[in-house]
Amino acid sequence: MAYRWKNTLTRADVTPEAMWLNRRQIIAGAAGLGAIAAAGAAQADEGLEPNSYEDITSYNNFYEFGTGKSDPAENAGAMVTDPWSIRVDGLVDNPGDYSLAQLLDGLTAEERIYRFRCVEAWSMVVPWNGVELADILTKVGIKPEAKYVAFESLADPETMIGVRRQVIPFPYVEGLRLDEAMHPLTIMATGLYDRPMPNQNGAPIRLVVPWKYGFKSIKSIIRITLTEEQPPATWNMLQSREYGFYSNVNPEVSHPRWSQATERRIGGGLFNARQDTLMFNGYEQEVASLYEGMDLRRNF
Ligand code: MTE
Repeated sequence: MAYRWKNTLTRADVTPEAMWLNRRQIIAGAAGLGAIAAAGAAQADEGLEPNSYEDITSYNNFYEFGTGKSDPAENAGAMVTDPWSIRVDGLVDNPGDYSLAQLLDGLTAEERIYRFRCVEAWSMVVPWNGVELADILTKVGIKPEAKYVAFESLADPETMIGVRRQVIPFPYVEGLRLDEAMHPLTIMATGLYDRPMPNQNGAPIRLVVPWKYGFKSIKSIIRITLTEEQPPATWNMLQSREYGFYSNVNPEVSHPRWSQATERRIGGGLFNARQDTLMFNGYEQEVASLYEGMDLRRNF
């Protein structure tokens, strides 16, 4: 099976940072409508206008460091990411506490350029570096009874100001059905733009599930547990009417308080026009079969 992301989003789609800055400066300085129209057209082009390193690392959700979009960039520097240990337990053949290096041993990080769609209706395109979660799970050995994968983030009151203030209950937890976790699009990302993962983006290792709303992509993971029962998920526990366990991107299923039909691409500046949200965030061909026969309004 061929995966479309390989063809639709390539390294060439990511504007080199210098060019991006240059273009922004040109746009900022230009009163000329020509420049504005050209930039607008580029933005509209398939909706794949890439985001700069600056965009991706300065506008974040990471409540362990505060609820504001700039809080993570300001506060996450305090998090200690080396050494880092991940507990793997539950229905696995080789449970234990693994160092990050042990968990990734033998696996090669590759680049995955994915659309990233937050449930709040903003989006970016991010060039992640990472490994398929399937490869990690295969390494630790999946017992036949396992049906779900549960994840847990670091919750350290010493270094995480949001944890100290209990802005939401911590640790942040998430979960996937095992077939979702094993899907080749699902990665554990260790970097972006070929640099180590910035703390505010979930260093040293975070989940990325590109067809689901961003809150499923849990950051700074310290525990992975294979389970038979559906595991708890933070936003689902807080507001189950608003945030489903599946949380697949779906333009036809509104959030109770806003439409999900369109989204705002971060970094567009003046040209921050809304664009249509794509079913499964544009990965329908790859993942729709996972949900065959399910009512996506009920199982939102
Ligand atoms: N993971 C943890 N541990 N804590 C969080 O607050 N926020 C989620 C998700 N993972 C969050 C988290 C939400 S709401 C989004 S949209 C994405 O991280 C944001 O990822 P980004 O900052 O890399 O864009």
